[in-house]
Amino acid sequence: MTQQRGRELFRSCQGCHNTASDERRMGPSLRSFFGKVTLRNGKHADDENVREIILEGFNGMPSFRYSLRTAEIDDLMAYLHTLTGKPTGAEVPPGVAYFKAYCLRCHNPDSRTSTAPDLRGHYKPENAALIEDGHAGAPALKDWLKDTERRILFEYLKTY
Ligand code: HEC
Ligand code: HEC
Repeated sequence: MTQQRGRELFRSCQGCHNTASDERRMGPSLRSFFGKVTLRNGKHADDENVREIILEGFNGMPSFRYSLRTAEIDDLMAYLHTLTGKPTGAEVPPGVAYFKAYCLRCHNPDSRTSTAPDLRGHYKPENAALIEDGHAGAPALKDWLKDTERRILFEYLKTY
């Protein structure tokens, strides 16, 4: 595995994935990629699931099954692991950051494809269980955030 080779191979990804800033191209920025816990497909951001996206493609991302050899994907993975930039706007309150990381992918009022309801002004405490246990393809939040962290998200939702 060499990160250097991975970086070179990443040229074929760069047209769609920024690594210098958080700005989206056709695909999401990967600048702070392995600092995240969930992928956009709802799966855990671990090696196996990232490989799967590269091999199979996902939601507009082309499959690289026939254009990359296994050893090349190993190199790419080594490079992707170096992309651990801290999210910019570190001043963002944690509730906002959790919402962005776990909810905005579906509950995005600007999205034309998501069917998830707009949660603005919509949070009811009786919905906490649904958020904790997972719903409609959303992972169970109690697997990802500690009690104190979930409480911060719920407080934020009341003001959202
Ligand atoms: C033609 C544009 C395009 C190319 C080329 C491309 N991708 Fe993607 N990629 C996408 C899109 C679109 C998505 C999914 C976007 C979404 O659902 O928000 C994506 C998603 C991903 C994800 C998941 C990100 C996440 O947060 O869930 C990874 C990892 C990824 N791409 C890596 C790569 C790698 C590595 C390469 C090069 C081998 C590559 N991509 C090439 C467009 C592209
Ligand atoms: C994978 C997509 C997805 C993710 C991620 C997701 N949701 Fe949802 N959510 C949905 C869909 C679709 C519905 C509507 C259908 C349903 O209730 O099962 C929904 C419904 C809800 C409802 C009930 C809304 C109402 O007024 O009826 C709440 C509250 C909610 N989500 C909160 C959240 C929170 C908070 C997060 C982040 C921790 C989150 N969701 C993450 C897809 C998602």
